[in-house]
Amino acid sequence: MAVPLIEYENLAKANAPFQAELEAAFRSVSQRGWFVLGQAVETFEEQFAHYCQAAHCVGVGSGLDALRIALEASQLRSGGEVIVAGNVFVACLLAIGQAGLRPRLVEPDPLTYNLDPDRVAEAIGPNTVALMPVHLYGKMCDMPRLLALAEKHGLWVVEDAAQAHGASLHGRRAGSWGHCAAFSFYPTKNLGALGDGGAVVTNSPTLAQRAKLLRNYGSGQKYHNQVLGYNSRLDELQAAFLTVKLAHLEPINQHKRQLAAIYQTDLGPQFVKPAAGEGYRDAFHIYPVRHPARDRLREHLRAHGVRTEIHYPVPPHRQPALQNLLGDLHLPLTDQLAATELSLPISYGHTPAEVARVVEAMNGFS
Ligand SMILES: Cc1ncc(COP(=O)(O)O)c(C=O)c1O
Repeated sequence: MAVPLIEYENLAKANAPFQAELEAAFRSVSQRGWFVLGQAVETFEEQFAHYCQAAHCVGVGSGLDALRIALEASQLRSGGEVIVAGNVFVACLLAIGQAGLRPRLVEPDPLTYNLDPDRVAEAIGPNTVALMPVHLYGKMCDMPRLLALAEKHGLWVVEDAAQAHGASLHGRRAGSWGHCAAFSFYPTKNLGALGDGGAVVTNSPTLAQRAKLLRNYGSGQKYHNQVLGYNSRLDELQAAFLTVKLAHLEPINQHKRQLAAIYQTDLGPQFVKPAAGEGYRDAFHIYPVRHPARDRLREHLRAHGVRTEIHYPVPPHRQPALQNLLGDLHLPLTDQLAATELSLPISYGHTPAEVARVVEAMNGFS
């Protein structure tokens, strides 16, 4: 008998437990007949700000837009440099460029894969205006050290929490540390919509107000435009779906932590596993391992019915589209991560028994 396939992700399966609630949310919005910027968005914004331990949330069209709008609402000096790790998702660089700023890439911390305060300290210069800690894979960056550096040098901090809904450090959640933060609700995220969505989270009422203008044509009052803005609004349907799923986010994160714990204890020492730091509570959006023969390992798993992903196979400084923005960079550690990282199945739809099967296939690799 053929062994059943273990997919990397199956969103229909992961969302199945919420199906009835999602359908009720759809009916409610559809029957109300109000689809853009209404009570569903307001309700979600209020609840998500509270969840993030922050004062304000502004729902926008995507995570990329959340980053760009957060940066623009921060009113940083045009052309100023934003320090960010070299191994992040391409959207971080796109947002910096779109906001009229310049990315300054540094090598990540080799253990956490996150923005390395030592490298940041070396990179800060007269043109630096901000730091962008990206909580990659659902692990928080070392925010106490990064905030201390930012304060010392008068820099702005924009968190990218797109992979870190509910992750925390010393009990304080992602999105509550910087001057502002960006979230993505792309369907695969721990808090995922049934389409695109994103949010800017902040404690600053002024920044939240600017983000609200920017998402809606730069207009606070209909047909009156104060600034040049965009059309990037979280819509009522996605907000209603997200409110349903927010109520389940803790069990979702808990499930992923339980699966991660199996990998953490049972995978052999030949694999580099995520670092476990004191006070860090990871959201495990992704469970990354590293192995020098990553591509062969991936094929071995495929042959054993296990599907995996790579986050990310081509780092931003090797993307042709970013050549003008970044120039030629030498980032050997970033290149090495791209060549050795493998993401194992860890979704709400996976069972501990399936993860045990992945472990068995992994440990059988030679
Ligand atoms: C770290 C990070 N930043 C930004 C984004 C962009 O989010 P979106 O896909 O919603 O535009 C993502 C999404 O994949 C991400 O993982």
